[in-house]
Amino acid sequence: MTAQLSKKGEAWSARFSEPVSDLVKRYTASVFFDKRLAQFDIQGSLAHADMLAHQGIISAQDLADIQRGMAQIEAEIAAGSFEWLLDLEDVHLNIEKRLTELVGDAGKRLHTGRSRNDQVATDIRLYLRAAIDDITALLHGLQTALVDLAEQNADTILPGFTHMQVAQPVTFGHHMLAYVEMFGRDAERMADCRRRVNRLPLGAAALAGTTFPTDRARVAQTLGFEDVCHNSLDAVSDRDFAIEFCAGAALIMTHVSRMSEELVIWMSPRVGFIDIADRFCTGSSIMPQKKNPDVPELARGKTGRVNGHLVALLTLMKGQPLAYNKDNQEDKEPLFDTVDTVTDTLRIFADMARGITVKPDAMRAAALQGYATATDLADYLVKKGLPFRDAHEAVARAVRSCDERGCDLADLPLEDLRTFSGLIDADIYGVLTLEGSVAARNHVGGTAPQQVRAAIARWREKLG
Ligand code: ARG
Repeated sequence: MTAQLSKKGEAWSARFSEPVSDLVKRYTASVFFDKRLAQFDIQGSLAHADMLAHQGIISAQDLADIQRGMAQIEAEIAAGSFEWLLDLEDVHLNIEKRLTELVGDAGKRLHTGRSRNDQVATDIRLYLRAAIDDITALLHGLQTALVDLAEQNADTILPGFTHMQVAQPVTFGHHMLAYVEMFGRDAERMADCRRRVNRLPLGAAALAGTTFPTDRARVAQTLGFEDVCHNSLDAVSDRDFAIEFCAGAALIMTHVSRMSEELVIWMSPRVGFIDIADRFCTGSSIMPQKKNPDVPELARGKTGRVNGHLVALLTLMKGQPLAYNKDNQEDKEPLFDTVDTVTDTLRIFADMARGITVKPDAMRAAALQGYATATDLADYLVKKGLPFRDAHEAVARAVRSCDERGCDLADLPLEDLRTFSGLIDADIYGVLTLEGSVAARNHVGGTAPQQVRAAIARWREKLG
């Protein structure tokens, strides 16, 4: 029995008296999802082998054999001819077994002074570091597309809302820049998370370190890690970095989802503020008139799974004693799906931002309804000496009267306006216009077109 198992290649088979069932084999295997770590597994192995040779733990010939074998394995994987075997459980054992087939004993020496526990932790960190770099570039791409849209609409006025009620006029450029700020914080979070991802677990071996005279700093340097993990127990069991990443990813998706909700509302024919290019929408199989904003709707929906992955990883870790436990194998699918979902979503959103057509007339018409400049009238009275609370009261009465007459504040003749406060003069009409209202909010962070242009210039410089 033992001999038969050994032929199949299980790395621990000599210890066991009977094989696992096919169901257990399938249940415990990870190769069909962790094979996507292959390039990072090979990169880590080559750095480890280089260090072993440099330290005289394996020979220069062994290193050369390992390098040659790994080059062939990389080529086989790229060509799609590499045979992934369930019997060999995971990406690590599949690659090691093939290496040994190709180069003999040198392949068997590769695992000296390491364990799959520090190996897999290293692979995930290398994978995630690359993913963070991709996502950061995609965030910048989306920000640039939104800055472009903001620039085209620095003067376009729409109603700003609170409680989904018309509040005050804002510019569409200002509105877009709010999302640019959110995605800017997301990029900062990714950069911060990257620092903690970028530390080397390899060298911790199974959990306690190794008896071989290794040089962990050399491996860290080869792989571009900023530091080594300083406690072997922590090194093999820590997945904080993956959780942090998923938290950052959940926030990215939350921002995307908020924006999606607005796009869906704006594209509703009832609102009609924007149109989204046909290539991001689909029709209905029954209602011929429909054009549905599928991409933002789906992005809003996918936010749920990314938030779910964060909770999955937190739950995965909360009950684990030190050090490595097989539970950790469950970290990969949520992490991979988070990376894939965020990556696809950001790519498609940058493209979609360029497919948004703004409809300034509809925005303007909406801003003219709902007394969006009422606060401006109150501010005007305050500047003429009325205490703010009294001004608020006077304008509230004016709004109520407009409501009864079915007109806007700017439609009231001067003598009628003066019945609410004798401080009102003819210059009020400049204040009550939408343009006057936005232009007056001319300070850092305000919606005035001048400020929007200054913010755009600042972002352009940052984004390069
Ligand atoms: N497939 C495993 C994982 O994803 C690799 C490490 C396995 N280590 C072990 N001692 N069983 O975590």
